[in-house]
Amino acid sequence: MRTIDIHIPILVKEESELTSEELHLLDEARRATYRSYAPYSHFSVGAAVLLADGTIVGGSNQENAAYPSGLCAERTAMFYANSRYPDQPIRSICIAARNAYGEFIHRPIAPCGACRQSLLEAEQRAGHPIGVLLYGTDGIYSIRSIKDLLPLGFDESFL
Ligand code: THU
Repeated sequence: MRTIDIHIPILVKEESELTSEELHLLDEARRATYRSYAPYSHFSVGAAVLLADGTIVGGSNQENAAYPSGLCAERTAMFYANSRYPDQPIRSICIAARNAYGEFIHRPIAPCGACRQSLLEAEQRAGHPIGVLLYGTDGIYSIRSIKDLLPLGFDESFL
């Protein structure tokens, strides 16, 4: 028997420690939460993706009375970016969320498994790591790649 240890470094940053580019992306993610359509969960998520040419695309969660028909903020932003700018690889993504009281959540938001899977493919398509910023008022998690968010991920190499 042998063990495989997977070590995932997560930097925990204060807002004051972000670069101006990161801060800009965070502002867009926070802004996007106000465009969320979340009448069922009352959980408003915003995502902002930064493209290779500097373009920033925002997206928010869009719910539906038939619950599974809705879509998370991350995939809304990413799929829109890929469909609008197919030749611009994604460089980084920032995610923020507000609770039912309208407050930004304290703990950094954790993207769901389906979003991690979709983002993993975007990372492979980009051919370089996509940086991730997960916003919480208590701290911001800075993660160097989507692969770090989804170790042992399934991808086309298995097919
Ligand atoms: N949601 C996101 O948009 N992104 C996440 O990272 C977690 C969850 C949405 C899906 C649903 O509209 C609501 O938050 C509650 O799960």
